[in-house]
Amino acid sequence: MMNWKRKDLLGLKDLSAEEIKLILDTAVPMKEILGRRIKKVPTLRGRTVVTLFYEPSTRTRTSFELAAKYLSADSVNISTSASSVVKGESLKDTARTLAAMGADVVILRHPMAGAPVLLARTIRAAVINAGDGTHEHPTQALLDMFTVREKKGELAGLTVAIIGDILHSRVARSNIWGFTKMGARVRVCGPATMMPPEIEVTGAQVCLSIEEALTGADVVMMLRIQLERQQQGLFPSIREYARLFGLNRERLSLARPDALVMHPGPMNRGVEISPEVADGVNSVINEQVTNGVAVRMALLYLLSGGGMPDA
Ligand code: CP
Repeated sequence: MMNWKRKDLLGLKDLSAEEIKLILDTAVPMKEILGRRIKKVPTLRGRTVVTLFYEPSTRTRTSFELAAKYLSADSVNISTSASSVVKGESLKDTARTLAAMGADVVILRHPMAGAPVLLARTIRAAVINAGDGTHEHPTQALLDMFTVREKKGELAGLTVAIIGDILHSRVARSNIWGFTKMGARVRVCGPATMMPPEIEVTGAQVCLSIEEALTGADVVMMLRIQLERQQQGLFPSIREYARLFGLNRERLSLARPDALVMHPGPMNRGVEISPEVADGVNSVINEQVTNGVAVRMALLYLLSGGGMPDA
């Protein structure tokens, strides 16, 4: 097995298939720890993990905090609304302050694409991108790939349909990079106003209708429609969006019978996905959340200089 050599995890575009496989393989024993009655191992005792979020989050921040706690690291959460950021402190100065206090890993969510790269160049601590603008959300894509691999055995040869606002979705971008590197075929579909120009250079295939995207798919990944986009005139109404691009039971029947239905959350039930599909037998949405903890444990472990887990 290869060793992890990077200081930071900034995106999946630059990762090799071998590096992605190493992360997914490392998450397997981490998930086993999550199944124990006492979910605690001493692996990262004495390490300090800081979550620094400039945007709201439920899943990503909580799962990183739990991942750190299960590995016995000390974890601190900085909510920017209650920090000196509101007094005008810059990202660099905030990060230098955290580094001076001994943070080993800083997990950053920021509205600006590229903010984690800036941070990684500024501090010695490992930096994990927890979502930067519309650029990348690598840990979400890694947990998505982990979930699919766990259910399907492997990723190569699968057809993955990603439906929704591709233009503004960092989840879509990271998943396209990740799944294509691992040998899956990725289809994308959404309103023309929400499709990035030249998206094909990523290796994704653009489908003009949701029916085309769903037909024969092994994985159906629905994206959250960002309701504020309607004010920007990118789609006429919520009802129209749901009619043209929403996943319901009838449409899902076009995919393979054992297709996995995924959503990164938070969901707009009744808009991009019907409640019966979100809660149906094909849905792995709750498992995505659980696997998010295992994958983030693996990342904290690898970025803290781990060899094989001593769980
Ligand atoms: N999927 C995701 O990033 O969710 P949160 O915004 O709740 O972290």
